[in-house]
Amino acid sequence: MTVHTDAAHNAALAALLSRHSLGPRWMVAPGPNDEELKLAVQAALRAPNHGRLEPWRAVVISSEQRPALADLFEQFARTSGKSEEEVAIERERAFNGPVLLAWIARIDDTVAKVPPHEQWICVGGAFANFMNAVHAMGYGAKILSGRKCQHPAIVRAFCEEGEQLVGFICVGTATRELEPREKDEVGPRLSAWNSPTS
Ligand SMILES: Cc1cc2nc3c(=O)[nH]c(=O)nc-3n(C[C@H](O)[C@H](O)[C@H](O)COP(=O)(O)O)c2cc1C
Repeated sequence: MTVHTDAAHNAALAALLSRHSLGPRWMVAPGPNDEELKLAVQAALRAPNHGRLEPWRAVVISSEQRPALADLFEQFARTSGKSEEEVAIERERAFNGPVLLAWIARIDDTVAKVPPHEQWICVGGAFANFMNAVHAMGYGAKILSGRKCQHPAIVRAFCEEGEQLVGFICVGTATRELEPREKDEVGPRLSAWNSPTS
């Protein structure tokens, strides 16, 4: 295989280097269709996965289900003592993104060979592959979580026993250019090992 490290000649690398999150207010329909979503999940399944645990799954929330999600978000807002205005904002968040998915993790701390931190890395790797795949297809996306991902009614609505709700992923067609939040610095992230002297 020829190795192309030049992004201009390597579409996969160019996609990886140009992904940035896009807030739902900058998205319109269409979002990815069922086939595209399956492809993105296939890409997620290509993330490194110790012990074949695949400790994650994604759940699509349809347009028809948004009002039910809004009711749950309202429940969270009311039990958190938010004002009527904040309750309305929280309800509105259920309608974010032409396509909306919940990202769910299942971390099993009884697997001796694959400790929880390795399972979390797999969850994150799969999530990153999913985000990069939808980006490569030309969509904008962003994951949002917040305290509501720990709210019992919301957790119950999405998770089975032993699962955790990581966040909600909005995906759609971008209405503006993707913008980096800050310049990425490779320097502090890559160094030669300072080996102990014997
Ligand atoms: C699991 C997870 C949950 C997140 N939750 C939130 C959130 O609730 N609110 C928020 O503003 N950003 C949240 N972020 C960060 C954004 O999704 C996004 O990654 C960040 O704005 C950086 O943008 P970038 O992806 O273009 O680097 C979360 C990121 C991750 C990985």
